[in-house]
Amino acid sequence: METEHPENIYIPSKTSFEEKIDRVSDLYGQQRLTLEDAAAFLDIDESEVCSLLHQRGMLPSYTVLVLGGAGFIGSNFIHRLITRHPNVRVVNYDKLTYAGNIKNLTALKDNPQHVFVQADIANYESLRKVFETTRIDYIVNFAAETHVDRSIHGHTKDFIQTNVYGVFNILSLIREFPVTKYVHISTDEVYGALQKDDTYLFTEEYPLSPRNPYSATKASGDALCLSFYHTYGIPVTIVRPSNNYGPHQYPEKLVPYFVHLAQQGKPLPLYGDGKHMREWLFVRDNCAGIEKVMWQGKVGEIYNIGGGNERENIEVARMILHLLGKPQSLLAFTEDRLGHDRRYALDSSKIQRELAWRPETSFEEGLADTVAWYVNNYEWILESLRRGALYEHYAGKK
Ligand code: NAD
Ligand code: DAU
Repeated sequence: METEHPENIYIPSKTSFEEKIDRVSDLYGQQRLTLEDAAAFLDIDESEVCSLLHQRGMLPSYTVLVLGGAGFIGSNFIHRLITRHPNVRVVNYDKLTYAGNIKNLTALKDNPQHVFVQADIANYESLRKVFETTRIDYIVNFAAETHVDRSIHGHTKDFIQTNVYGVFNILSLIREFPVTKYVHISTDEVYGALQKDDTYLFTEEYPLSPRNPYSATKASGDALCLSFYHTYGIPVTIVRPSNNYGPHQYPEKLVPYFVHLAQQGKPLPLYGDGKHMREWLFVRDNCAGIEKVMWQGKVGEIYNIGGGNERENIEVARMILHLLGKPQSLLAFTEDRLGHDRRYALDSSKIQRELAWRPETSFEEGLADTVAWYVNNYEWILESLRRGALYEHYAGKK
């Protein structure tokens, strides 16, 4: 969209706020101003600009099909989208596997902007019904089997079914029922592993080299997406975030799992030497980046989203114990994960440069908020564990 920089808007000094809004509405309607610029110009939040424009009938309505929206990142994303955009209706299509929890969206229970459909992306007929009955503008696909340990210990087929076959269904249906953009959520794991001393980071051009069954299925999904873009012109944009942390993450993943164990005074099992490194990204920062990609990202392109906070696992474990006031003697070392990737780290300069996205949450601040959330919502953890039938098996294996 060609936009006019807010600094170029001429407004006489005595202009009232109402008149400024009218001017902004006009420019927005002419596609000469983005929401972000309008917010900067009026010196209010983007969500407030949306409300004002919505009241004036200036905002087009959009339907966003969010796949896997009851999981960790998906539910955080839906909250963000709905609270900021009164003109957006979300159709949330989720199978509700052990990792999906409709209670993550309790706050939206009576909100007409949120419609929930419990179904499987690998079920072509179910998915087709949504495309047949809904005029969809954007699709954001979070639906996936996501836990590396589970992909290693016995359930690889589920990963192929959802992360490859499910993606094929989505792409095939978009061919028949065109949309403005399909945002495909991938992962930094598709690039393979870095070593601790490597001085380069993974850019979007880096060749794919997945090294565990989970990342292999994610790389396959990406390859299908790009092939449908090149072959059929399907408007796909791929996002590759680094390790997320934050509220509502299923407690088999490092941060909530370790909070849970520490709360119970149990040892925290660090795989191998505990020195594997991840680049931590607060989930709300990730959702802000994904939203930017949805509205403004170029089709056919890939955007890395990294938090810039590289930490060894042992350091994260130490911080969690410290935040909970638990003894460091709870640190324990256990058998390593098979094929355990040593380090992931992204070069995120493309999204920073092209879409002006930056992570806003320091790891110290984000981790403290996250740990506090799990402590205050401990019943959420216990309920999640009761739902995940295989949990004890994998936990025991660790
Ligand atoms: P999650 O496991 O918390 O949630 C996945 C959601 O998808 C759940 O609600 C689940 O019910 C749903 N789902 C699974 N299979 C489905 C199917 N066949 N049909 C419909 N719904 C289905 O995952 P997450 O951590 O929120 O990850 C979301 C996406 O982001 C995934 O694609 C993942 O690969 C990617 N990702 C995650 C991280 C991370 O650190 N969590 C980092 C980078 C990328
Ligand atoms: O990098 C992005 C990926 O991050 C996403 O694509 C995946 O969906 C997501 O699950 C996550 O994968 P990881 O394997 O990095 O996350 P996990 O929380 O399982 O593990 C983080 C690190 O902590 C990893 O090095 C393994 C280690 N670990 C994990 C657990 C659960 C332990 O040492 N002990 C544990 O008990």
